[in-house]
Amino acid sequence: MDRSGDRWVIREARPGDAAALAGIDRRSWTATYPGIVPESVLQAWIEESPAKWRALLSELPPEAPQRLWVGERDGEVRGYATTSPSKSWWLEPPAGAGELTNLYLDPDAIGTGLGRALYEHAMRDLAARGFDPLLVWAFRDNPLARRFYDRMGLAVDIPDHDWVLGEVPCPIVRYRLDRPATSVLVRGRHG
Ligand SMILES: CC(C)(COP(=O)(O)OP(=O)(O)OC[C@H]1O[C@@H](n2cnc3c(N)ncnc32)[C@H](O)[C@@H]1OP(=O)(O)O)[C@@H](O)C(=O)NCCC(=O)NCCS
Repeated sequence: MDRSGDRWVIREARPGDAAALAGIDRRSWTATYPGIVPESVLQAWIEESPAKWRALLSELPPEAPQRLWVGERDGEVRGYATTSPSKSWWLEPPAGAGELTNLYLDPDAIGTGLGRALYEHAMRDLAARGFDPLLVWAFRDNPLARRFYDRMGLAVDIPDHDWVLGEVPCPIVRYRLDRPATSVLVRGRHG
């Protein structure tokens, strides 16, 4: 088996990563979201992404509870994960919850181990900061993401919730991991 994924380096994002992250958004969302997210919303997300990353990376104070992780190899950023205290965008989260708010890879980095490396790093960091439970929202009809979170040992606790995008209901599901300090790595290790 190719273990080239072992060479992925995970580090905190910095302002110079903005263009690379916007490129990942564009390629990943274009490959993943047609048929899941309405076309006009998807185009708006892609157009807004470069400015969003520039602002976020230049304005986020070091002590912010939101953390942005990138995965790189040979100096090239190919994926990212973001974490935060859980948001109440869709439903009020359980007390103390932390959230993996984004996980995106360049399409040709899928299946290299980068997804797992970013996931484990981000979830371990949330657990080390005392968040419990850990939550992840995903589109219900995104099979790649669904299979990945299943393999990581997460359980679905909200199986169907509508996120209305461009007046179209886009079903999402919520995954949950309880007591992450003992289970983040052990349960997901060999999927
Ligand atoms: C969801 C997503 C991040 C999951 O990533 P992934 O590619 O499945 O996960 P990995 O990069 O860890 O790859 C795992 C696969 O690579 C293989 N692999 C190859 N080299 C590897 C290595 N060194 N270490 C671990 N796994 C390796 C594994 O065998 C595994 O395949 P398997 O599950 O069939 O056994 C990715 O599919 C993605 O970015 N999708 C599009 C965007 C998206 O939907 N994001 C989620 C939003 S909620």
